[in-house]
Amino acid sequence: MSKPSYDWLNKLPKIELHLHLEGTLEPELMFELAQRNGISLSYKSVEEVKAAYQFNNLQDFLDIYYQGAQVLKFEEDFYDLTWAYLNKCHEQNVIHIEPFFDPQTHTSRGIPFATMISGISRAFDDGEKEFGISYRLVMCFLRHLSEDEAIETLELAKPFLANIDGVGLDSSELNNPPEKFTEVFSQAQKMGLKLVAHAGEEGPAGYIWSALDNLNVQRIDHGIRALDDPELVVRLIETKIPLTVCPLSNVKLRVFDNMSQHTILMMLDLGLCVCVNSDDPSYFGGYITENFNALVDSLSLSKEQAIRLVENSISSSFVSEDRKFTMLKLLNDYKDS
Ligand code: ADE
Ligand code: ZN
Repeated sequence: MSKPSYDWLNKLPKIELHLHLEGTLEPELMFELAQRNGISLSYKSVEEVKAAYQFNNLQDFLDIYYQGAQVLKFEEDFYDLTWAYLNKCHEQNVIHIEPFFDPQTHTSRGIPFATMISGISRAFDDGEKEFGISYRLVMCFLRHLSEDEAIETLELAKPFLANIDGVGLDSSELNNPPEKFTEVFSQAQKMGLKLVAHAGEEGPAGYIWSALDNLNVQRIDHGIRALDDPELVVRLIETKIPLTVCPLSNVKLRVFDNMSQHTILMMLDLGLCVCVNSDDPSYFGGYITENFNALVDSLSLSKEQAIRLVENSISSSFVSEDRKFTMLKLLNDYKDS
């Protein structure tokens, strides 16, 4: 059982800008969907699945994560996955989300684009109606695959652009630099989509430069390796490029040995636009509140710092100025309470 969270953190209005929907698949739901869809898992029990979640690096995790996603087959499965996440958001006072999904993980198994999008979007609509949680959806290209495959995926997405707000880049970072995807990002930009990319998670600071210069991204996912390059830090501060940092993920994937070594608060103090996110909460031991909690426990995160981190999430989000204003007001009410 995870330890109870701090009351002031439970009440803090929160925003999630770096979250893979497939990474919210809890082992219990994995088993339920496997049974419903007649899929046999290589694990015998929920406990066995949880015990397997020990990773030495990003690739270790991805191997297990792609296996887990195989249980998602029908519209209802994508709905149930997304709905379970939205319930968690409601429980944790998350007011706005911008999740990723990985279409290629599913199209490669013959799952139609419409199946994924309609399940996810229906859950988002219900979440907005029932809980008031606003959303944007970002589809990621898998960077271990070719750029041609990414371009095919963008083509497949065309009929569904009313439900897709941006594109991102994820999966195995090392040896798959951003510039491999220059053309597909340029096409996505021309289609009016927002642009983000994972960079500087395991890969070097040079990948962050490349994501900015070759892909024209508006946000960097992770970006923690930026601190290796003082010139890059200056650029990120001056251009206010957001870095969507994921503390528990970084420790679980051994980017840092432990949470007390995490550099997020150093980055905040330097004036970088960092925010807190959960990445793949089912695999990394916690959702957004647990991420904030870990920062309090290991880095003595203060209420004032937590508020600054949420302010960064609000300014970095892809919502309208009106919605940003409403979210800032909620945060100000919280500050004064
Ligand atoms: N896909 C899901 N989580 C990821 C991460 N942390 N880095 C790269 N790709 C991912
Ligand atoms: Zn991620």
